[in-house]
Amino acid sequence: MPEVSPSEARVLKFLAGKVGVQKSLSETEILPDGMNEREVSSAISWLDKKELLLVERKEHLSYALTDEGKRFLETGLPEEMAFKLAAKKGDIPTAELIEELGGKDGKIAIAQLARLGIKPSGGVVSVKGKDSLKDIFRKRTLFLSGLPQSAASDPELLDHFRKREDIISEKKRMERIVTLTDAGLKLSGQVSTEDQVSEITPDLLKNGTWRGKDFRRYDLNAPVERINSAVFHPITFLKDRVRRIFLEMGFTEMTGHYVEYAGWNMDALFIPQDHPARDMQDTFYIDADREIPFEDKEVLKIFQEAHEKGVEEYSGWGYHWDVEKAKQLVLRTHTTVSTIHYLYKHKDAPQAAFSVEKVFRHESVDWKHLAELHQIEGTYYAKDASLSTLFWLMKEFYGRLGFHDLKFIPSYYPYTEPSLDVVVKINGKEMELGGSGVFRPEVTRPLGLKEPVVAWGLGLERLAMIYYGLDDIRDIYRTDIDWLRKFPLKF
Ligand code: PHE
Repeated sequence: MPEVSPSEARVLKFLAGKVGVQKSLSETEILPDGMNEREVSSAISWLDKKELLLVERKEHLSYALTDEGKRFLETGLPEEMAFKLAAKKGDIPTAELIEELGGKDGKIAIAQLARLGIKPSGGVVSVKGKDSLKDIFRKRTLFLSGLPQSAASDPELLDHFRKREDIISEKKRMERIVTLTDAGLKLSGQVSTEDQVSEITPDLLKNGTWRGKDFRRYDLNAPVERINSAVFHPITFLKDRVRRIFLEMGFTEMTGHYVEYAGWNMDALFIPQDHPARDMQDTFYIDADREIPFEDKEVLKIFQEAHEKGVEEYSGWGYHWDVEKAKQLVLRTHTTVSTIHYLYKHKDAPQAAFSVEKVFRHESVDWKHLAELHQIEGTYYAKDASLSTLFWLMKEFYGRLGFHDLKFIPSYYPYTEPSLDVVVKINGKEMELGGSGVFRPEVTRPLGLKEPVVAWGLGLERLAMIYYGLDDIRDIYRTDIDWLRKFPLKF
């Protein structure tokens, strides 16, 4: 049952009192004791929202005299004045008539007389034998003095004056016709019109006057207008969801840097120095104005050894490894650089870590590619880590987001073997979300990692496309406020 204020209660009771006499009332006929027009109007709006009333709107046009119209009412309409003048003088030259009446009125008079069949001939206006026109003038004057009521009773004259310039003005008015609904009628018997305290003020509390007062109940279901409050950007929202899932699964969050050494971004991952992905076409290199020394000389030796000679029974690439290439700075091309850093610093198994961070690629942008995107990176390093752990982790992660149909397709990354791309199937379509695999011994063993490592790097924006049903990945970063407002945020 909706809450109603004392003024709403008064309006309800007033209407209920008319039931049986008059079903619907115009707003202006609703006059409960002690309420002014404004209060009635506001109470009606609230009762309408609460569906205790039915409100229909009816448009009314009303007419009034303009200043010019008022003047004509005093002096007579120009055509009438001209008629009288001509009748008094016998025939009258148009020039004289215009001068007598004043330029504007004179012209109006001649035009109006012409419509009534009196056309100047040879520059002279003659009204002889036209006395019947007096009746028309009288009717016109009566119409003007009878406004606004006369507008309704004489549509023909109304039409006449609407077409004439600046004699009558038209105003639109909305009338609200109010009918009590069944719910309103029922409630009208139960509501109180007694004054209630609707706001608790400090005074009321201090001087104790609240005692014995009737308090207005706080209506939690009162209808309110929707406002555009601050909301998360869809990517921020999804990123947080992803983070929460991995945290709930017991993973530790890793953080890294936008700028990395190529050594960590690539060499540590056994990506050969002539690999096409290291090309300027694919990677943003940093042109630093000062040398930023590679912090860990030991690790450079480890990379060199792995690349040139391999590790244990694995033979390496067998080329000459160039330390300068490893010292170059890049905008990280993937967050797998954070993973390898993290594992190097946390060599004790087991480790489970993830990150959701930005990466950069020198790539042309289209409906499913961005040059700046987030990767959902993760790793599980443990004695029992295997391909089936990877399958399980992916199924669990995407399952928690509501995607249950996954496909793994064989792929290739220089640092994993086997390598698998993760595909989510939804509504008959497939979306490739990123890569995964088991780190090669050439990556793990030189860095002292003794147990198997599974790892993945998945696109967050690609996930956003299927999560929010977008056709174009670029929409996410268009910063179009209307688009963002329409966004159905799924919680
Ligand atoms: N780093 C790969 C990419 O950027 C994804 C990947 C991560 C592949 C970990 C295998 C293992 O696409």
